[in-house]
Amino acid sequence: MSGDFSGIDLALVVEARKAMRNAYAPYSRFAVGAAVELDNGTIVRGCNFENASYGLSLCAEAVALATVNTHGGFKRIRAIAVAGGPIGASPDLPSAIVTPCGRCRQLIREARDVGGADIRIVCTGAHGDQFQTFDIDTLLPHAFGPANLA
Ligand code: THU
Repeated sequence: MSGDFSGIDLALVVEARKAMRNAYAPYSRFAVGAAVELDNGTIVRGCNFENASYGLSLCAEAVALATVNTHGGFKRIRAIAVAGGPIGASPDLPSAIVTPCGRCRQLIREARDVGGADIRIVCTGAHGDQFQTFDIDTLLPHAFGPANLA
């Protein structure tokens, strides 16, 4: 494996990969799983959830973050792992890491702002064999956020 991983983040990637298996992605045939870790160790998963009306599709990260919020944990997020790749891709093919889309970056940014602590964003590909960890200010510089509305 390559990348900057603690043992805890490795476990989080395993959870994201488990979530990937439940992706409902018959249109893109691209499965994404996300796993959010809270400050008390709780892990909440999400996967992408597509629709025949394509624009309604939900990203894995958005599903996971909204679920965390439903359980009252939105201010307690410390890390999110993202795993994704083409459904049925051959393990022999290289798998690029999946980073959150622009909308999901904005959602993570909000979580970081209201939580007041850094959120590790751990990105991996279809096989989980390579990964990279980012912070939100790297992925979404000069962002709009709650402070703009204060
Ligand atoms: N997708 C995610 O779930 N998260 C991302 O950050 C990138 C894209 C999903 C949306 C769609 O179901 C599929 O991947 C292809 O774009």
